[in-house]
Amino acid sequence: MRWTDTHCHLNHPDLYAEREVLLYRARQSGVHRLIVIGYDLESSRRAVELADEYDALYAAIGIHPHDASACDESVLSTLRELARHPRVVAIGEIGLDFYRDLSPREVQDAAFRAQMQLAAELELPVVIHCRDAYEEVLQILADYPTVRGVLHCFSGTVDHAQRGLELGYSLGIGGVITFKNATTLRDLVRSMPRDRVLLETDAPYLAPHPYRGKRNEPAYLPLIAQQVAALWEISLDALSAQTERNVETLFSLGN
Ligand code: NI
Repeated sequence: MRWTDTHCHLNHPDLYAEREVLLYRARQSGVHRLIVIGYDLESSRRAVELADEYDALYAAIGIHPHDASACDESVLSTLRELARHPRVVAIGEIGLDFYRDLSPREVQDAAFRAQMQLAAELELPVVIHCRDAYEEVLQILADYPTVRGVLHCFSGTVDHAQRGLELGYSLGIGGVITFKNATTLRDLVRSMPRDRVLLETDAPYLAPHPYRGKRNEPAYLPLIAQQVAALWEISLDALSAQTERNVETLFSLGN
């Protein structure tokens, strides 16, 4: 079985030093390909370096809404430079976070729009971070109709999911799907079009059951896959074939 972890942070200080053993364990559990997601300039640079060094790794680069105030002209032009690397497959993670509100909302809005614009220019898909801001995020996505992407760690309503799908977006499903209290999300995923679901760990965050609350790592991806396969009542083999196709389509990856 082959899996792609479409959202992990091997560039994060909690994982970076152990990347060799983490990649080894990922491979052992069938995770043959990983997208390392940037969240500020330094982590974006590191994502590109990692993708340059390891065949299994690809990079996404972008400024997270928490750091939106850092997203000035010079940062945007550095992102543009970094995006020239052939292993950069997306802009992200970008978006709005009205839950933690670590940057003023108008600053988050401006940084998000600037990076959506960049994605449109570069014809790259986007990785969207959204917390407590689905209305606002969906409105902004609609302003960039040529851009496609993934609503990472989806936590919205059925209506939000539907509108995201209509805009051409996929849903990123991670460890939360395995949590006891995630009944609503499981119901939603059960009825999702199968060509619009991507699997992700978001390591080091959001470890799936039975590791909930511990440090997450890409090797746990199959625990998420098992839950999705059970919801769809299909084999792990069929899920692997479907989700690998989804990844290759959205991020324009070969095998
Ligand atoms: Ni993330």
